[in-house]
Amino acid sequence: MKFRPFLMLSQLVALGAAGAVQAADRECAQSPGQVIDLCVYIESGQAYYEVSRKGTKVIAPSVLGLSFEGEPQARYTAIAGAKRNSADSTWEQPWGEQRFIRDNHTELKVTLKGDTPLNKAVDVTFRLFDDGFGLRYTYGAIPAGRKVAVTADRTEFSTIGNYSAWWYKPLEDDRDEYLYKEIDAKRITLAETPLTLRSQEEGGLLLAFHEAALVDFPSMLLSGDGAGKLTAWLMPWPDGVRAYRTGPFSTPWRTVVIGESAGDLADSRIALNLNEPNKIGDVSWFTPGKYVGVWWEMHLRRSTWASGDRHGATTENVKRYIDFAAKYGFSGVLVEGWNKGWDGDWLRNGHQISFTEPYPDFDLRGLADYANSKGVRLIGHHETAGAIVNYESQLDEAFSLYAGLGVNTVKTGYVEDSGDIKDAEGGKHWFAAQYMVRHHLKVVETAARYHIAINAHEPVKDTGLRRTYPNWVSREAARGQEFNAWGRPTNRPDHLTILPFTRLLAGPMDYTPGIFDIENGKSVVTERLQATIANQLALYVVIYSPVQMAADLPEHYEARPDALRFILDVPADWENSKTLAGEIGDYVVVARQQREGKDWFLGAVTDEEERSIQQSLGFLTPGKRYEAQIYRDADDADYRTNPTALTIEKKVVTAKDSLGLVLKPGGGVAVRFKALD
Ligand code: NOJ
Ligand code: CA
Repeated sequence: MKFRPFLMLSQLVALGAAGAVQAADRECAQSPGQVIDLCVYIESGQAYYEVSRKGTKVIAPSVLGLSFEGEPQARYTAIAGAKRNSADSTWEQPWGEQRFIRDNHTELKVTLKGDTPLNKAVDVTFRLFDDGFGLRYTYGAIPAGRKVAVTADRTEFSTIGNYSAWWYKPLEDDRDEYLYKEIDAKRITLAETPLTLRSQEEGGLLLAFHEAALVDFPSMLLSGDGAGKLTAWLMPWPDGVRAYRTGPFSTPWRTVVIGESAGDLADSRIALNLNEPNKIGDVSWFTPGKYVGVWWEMHLRRSTWASGDRHGATTENVKRYIDFAAKYGFSGVLVEGWNKGWDGDWLRNGHQISFTEPYPDFDLRGLADYANSKGVRLIGHHETAGAIVNYESQLDEAFSLYAGLGVNTVKTGYVEDSGDIKDAEGGKHWFAAQYMVRHHLKVVETAARYHIAINAHEPVKDTGLRRTYPNWVSREAARGQEFNAWGRPTNRPDHLTILPFTRLLAGPMDYTPGIFDIENGKSVVTERLQATIANQLALYVVIYSPVQMAADLPEHYEARPDALRFILDVPADWENSKTLAGEIGDYVVVARQQREGKDWFLGAVTDEEERSIQQSLGFLTPGKRYEAQIYRDADDADYRTNPTALTIEKKVVTAKDSLGLVLKPGGGVAVRFKALD
């Protein structure tokens, strides 16, 4: 038997089932800091992997492989080869929550020998990091030009022990726009990812399941068996097939982040590291920034997307927003409802939307020039209503029009029931099935050619593709602020303490924070924002997005210059980010350092409970003094009774100090640490 340094006796014992298996059919690897151990082996014709963390088994033997139409389930007979590799490099994000990202991993690539033609030689690549792992398949034996139909992704994640999960029922009409529920993980039937689990044992681990580099494949959900085993579940095509590919192909990475605290999950960079480097070249034409827009007023029903007396996107009204943006230094003005197609039932008439023809009362060219002359850019809007055949037929013209006007960011929208996206033949697709995964990337690639960045609403979820396509700057993919205008019901305070450890693990979110007119004339608290004004400010730090909206109306900002100051000061691009503290569903404290600046910012939000946190400032640069500009809930603030009561204080601090943070119910605190030295 060949000597295998990775096959140590202690591992065989730790990994239990290992002892029963022949060494030749078993290969193991460890993460760089020896935190994660992973073994892959074959038993009774099935390929399995299992994972331990610091000697404790976290993933019990779990099946690997895909199934294909037209051939029986393959039996694997051997691990034909194993290649090991390791890498420790640092790469730079053009913009982001962290400028320099370290990619320190070991890689184990095994070739599974199967007894069916498509499974003759299947490569499984495992990348092990100290905070988790990713695995992907490469079906290299498929002849070039041969079309294959994937009928299942059989990949399992067999969890051990009792976990709580943050979950909403997937595939409902509103896609990913639901409030999370905390449930026993064994009750998961089907779940969207990122799916976060927390051990119910004191001091137990947290796990986050997701995928990276979702390209030309359907989005992966996870189905539960009632006993803790999760299995990949791919969004199907209308004919039930999960994925079509031609010739040899690789799947997206299936990822598991493993942490001891909720913050460990939030600060993991595994998903970005598993994506390919930038494919679109220089993106210095895109600068992260904050924007305002003709938007909240429509959601409040004060104006309309449609033309007529109450049309929001009129030349005069947009000028007002441009003037406001220029006065306060916002870089963008989003305009929705500018183009023909919104009249009547736009949700049903998506095929009639024009992406090039403005309404007559909206002077597109004049306003773009006006904005540019004031150092502001219009932000474009393409609402497709899910009619993507219509959209794709206008794609080049639409981006070319905007590019010619100096517009370099476009918000897209796909408001349609989750399983009702129609193709040219009338076939209906899930919003994140392979058909739509292809569509979104086509939009992003086309936009890149015109130097346009995309912020997609109702999108396919983020899988770290911003590394490869750094013009894919943000997206929605969760329940955003808009629900707080509609009031059916509005977002609970705990929503913003769950998002950082679930949806936001995937990447930037265009939540659209910053509503100051919290009560909006409503007396029932569940019909308006369930937040304090300090909470709204804190979101600019808690939620990462390189395009960050100040969503409220200009007059509401001008009425609160004290609070507005924080929004004007907070950047949208960061040198570094750290999740300092947090419990899923209770609270979170995040610190971020301004990119190419010395200032630090801190944001903390709580659920409906009041909280006091003694926060060490050890993240600040040692030896430097900072003026902490603290925007906190006033002593009598409460999201139910007194949501706009804000206290602003200043004090000089250093890295040796700690700061007492008091968060009132539904509240928060936002701090700018202005460097004094
Ligand atoms: C839903 C988006 O999330 C929202 O931001 C937008 O205003 C509407 N669709 C209309 O496009
Ligand atoms: Ca939406």
